[in-house]
Amino acid sequence: MFASVLRTQLRRPLVGAAGRMPAVAPVTRNVIRARGYATEAGGSSNTLLWVLGAAAAAGGGYWYYAAGSTDVMKKEAESAVKSASQAVKAATKFTPTKDDYQKVYNDIAELLDDNDYDDGSYGPVLVRLAWHSSGTYDKNDNTGGSNYATMRFPSEAGHGANAGLEVARTKIEEIKQKYPWMSYGDLWTLGGVCAVQEMQGPKIPWRPGRIDGFAKDATPDGRLPDASKAADHLRNIFYRMGFDDQAIVALSGAHALGRCHRNRSGFDGPWTFSPTTFTNDYFTLLMNERWTWRKWDGPKQLQDKTKTLMMLPSDFALVQDREFKKWVKVYAGDNDKFFSDFSKYFSELLELGVPRAQFVASEPWIMKTIDEQSS
Ligand code: HEM
Repeated sequence: MFASVLRTQLRRPLVGAAGRMPAVAPVTRNVIRARGYATEAGGSSNTLLWVLGAAAAAGGGYWYYAAGSTDVMKKEAESAVKSASQAVKAATKFTPTKDDYQKVYNDIAELLDDNDYDDGSYGPVLVRLAWHSSGTYDKNDNTGGSNYATMRFPSEAGHGANAGLEVARTKIEEIKQKYPWMSYGDLWTLGGVCAVQEMQGPKIPWRPGRIDGFAKDATPDGRLPDASKAADHLRNIFYRMGFDDQAIVALSGAHALGRCHRNRSGFDGPWTFSPTTFTNDYFTLLMNERWTWRKWDGPKQLQDKTKTLMMLPSDFALVQDREFKKWVKVYAGDNDKFFSDFSKYFSELLELGVPRAQFVASEPWIMKTIDEQSS
């Protein structure tokens, strides 16, 4: 318990331009909202399948040379080949258990808080990394998704939608160096799971089994949503992944976390007053605030009356479209329903594009939070 209180206090509270503070302080929210949403699930380790998948990927024999890219990118790219041989090595010398993955989780949790970064936590940008590495999935040809961690390659890292995610990839590289047996796809998705859970969100069922692919597996640009667009575009993008209207709205609730950065997307500001605590505030604010178009030299975005918070045109589309708005209303009025639906859809999102046989357990696991382990 102590560790979490300390972590929460380390985070910078968001004071609005008008000096307004959250109606309920984040610490109080944490106490109110911290709860489990799923039961502990076991699962037998089936590393052999994972190894076979990794070895098959290595059979492609594709070698990527990251000319002129950063050290992190080079390391990431080299892992396309290394991971497969590492997987084989792991099969003979080391078989990671759920406890090993819990150690990885704990180390990720340890690096989240940093008073010198944004609102005091790397959590939000790790959630975005997990989502962007999975949301490229196309159910029509079964390409993209979290399996191959193709954002390691400049062709995909350079997509406009991924601007700024090198921050998250560089941060989590520290963990990769400590646990080289883990694939980037598993690491990035576990990063998102850990960030949501440690920011007082719902439990996110997760299991390992992704393998590192090759540059040829990188997805074409345009698979992730464009924030300047509206309902039709959101449907095109998310239906292609296999999601429906309810899932689109539930998943968008992740914008309770974090902020937009001028030097990344061009947009500016946070969506809520507590950007490092997972809440349903995104929905209550969408419903209850009066949103007006901001007059500035940046891309079209909306602002609240305190001029502290923002909404993207794509966020606003959720209250302009009748079907979407129905779900915004449900989640604004029922935090528990939002938590359990978000948990279900985010867990599904993180598994897109991964063949079932590759997973090391027949059912996803529930990783323990730091609080649960210390109490
Ligand atoms: C519905 C369509 C979506 C659009 C158009 C969209 C767009 C954006 C944009 C433009 C940013 C700002 C990036 C920056 O400047 O740093 C952002 C940030 C973020 N997005 Fe989304 N997003 C969408 C859905 C999602 C989903 C489904 C999730 C997760 C489940 C998510 C999680 C986040 C998080 C946590 C951040 C904050 C990152 C940070 O603080 O660095 N978004 N999104």
